[in-house]
Amino acid sequence: MRTQVGIIGAGPAGLLLSHLLHLRGIDSVVLEARSQNDIESTIRAGVLEQGTMDLLNEAGLGARMQAEGALHHGFELAFEGQRRRIALTELTGHAITVYAQHEVIKDLVAARIAADGALKFDVSNVSLHDFDASADAKPRIKYRHEDRDEELECDFIIGCDGSQGVARGSIPAALRQDYQKVYPFGWFGILVEAPPSSDELIYARHDRGFALISTRSPGVQRMYFQCDPKDTADAWSDDRIWAELHARVDTADGWQITEGKIFQKNIVGMRSFVSTPMQCGKLFLAGDAAHIVPPTGAKGLNLAVSDVKVLTAALTAFYKEGANDKLASYTETALKRVWRAEHFSWWMTRMLHKLDDTSPFEQRLQVAELEHVTTSRAAATALAENYVGSVAV
Ligand code: FAD
Ligand code: DHB
Repeated sequence: MRTQVGIIGAGPAGLLLSHLLHLRGIDSVVLEARSQNDIESTIRAGVLEQGTMDLLNEAGLGARMQAEGALHHGFELAFEGQRRRIALTELTGHAITVYAQHEVIKDLVAARIAADGALKFDVSNVSLHDFDASADAKPRIKYRHEDRDEELECDFIIGCDGSQGVARGSIPAALRQDYQKVYPFGWFGILVEAPPSSDELIYARHDRGFALISTRSPGVQRMYFQCDPKDTADAWSDDRIWAELHARVDTADGWQITEGKIFQKNIVGMRSFVSTPMQCGKLFLAGDAAHIVPPTGAKGLNLAVSDVKVLTAALTAFYKEGANDKLASYTETALKRVWRAEHFSWWMTRMLHKLDDTSPFEQRLQVAELEHVTTSRAAATALAENYVGSVAV
């Protein structure tokens, strides 16, 4: 089998890239290790930057996001028993939409299927071959599907296979420089049947640790709180979860979060990671395959989308104009936004979480920083520009 662009992974990066290339008349095949049901039901991110929404709308993928997603013009920072608003739209002219990642995945899969796009689920034994830069190299992806060994020949291989995929590791270690920071805490996430506790997201800093109140729909809420990454979800009874969330988020004026039936619990670890370069010969990496951010800044999905935007422009220039320059500078272009988001996510994480090395002095510094970003218009604007993704890079 042959295609122009062989894509590994049907996450947001791989599916969106395949669809954008299709709209520009470029063929691709997407190979995914999991089942369609699996990728459409894994609960992950929820916040879409305006640029992500614009791209989905331009690609004709925005109808359900507009109908079911919630446009938010601000969020709140809670600390010292009070809440202070960051007025995103007033400060930046941009908003965010809360719309679950697995709903984006459903919209993307439906669009690929409607366009007769080649999308293979449940593939295994994926390996990458002959992607060096020489003109006569013919990149190939070997894989197993429906009990048969298959081979896909292509012009380019794009690794969109997330942090645990095979693509990044196919680039020789000697050519790669990896940067990593592992945080000694994780996020405990719950889905709750309840009305929203608040009109906007709340990021809370408390001496007991961080908490985040988000939403999914008028009847389903998403909440997170900082936990030990080695903890297990079963060790937390519903009562214990609510007690912890109340302690961290409720404010001194008597306002409380609204409880409900918890129907999903999970724990995720947190790290910052960047692997460079994001390309090697005719292999390119996009999204979590190349970089990870801690979820505090809500950047991961949006970064995957911004990589795909850069890569789509580069591949289009190659196929339509025979131009190689944008492909050659892909890493350099993409990394500017990646490092901006890495810094922002690390900074938000440090400002809001209980850190192992936090002395009482450093705890007061966190509060001083929160006071600053919620009272100085310049500091609030810098935070807001990073959060909505309109910051200059
Ligand atoms: P993935 O979504 O990981 O997709 C990779 C795909 O490749 C997967 O489907 C996988 O099965 C497949 N694959 C892996 N290996 C192979 C293989 N060998 N062969 C074939 N297929 C393979 N980001 C935000 O922007 N906003 C948020 O609010 C946010 N919140 C988050 C909250 C949580 C709790 C978590 C865990 C993450 C959050 N993120 C958030 C991050 C976001 O979910 C990821 O950054 C995003 O999924 C990256 O997309 P991707 O397409 O690069 O990778
Ligand atoms: C959600 C996740 C995030 O990482 C974040 O910063 C805000 C919201 C969410 O899942 O709703």
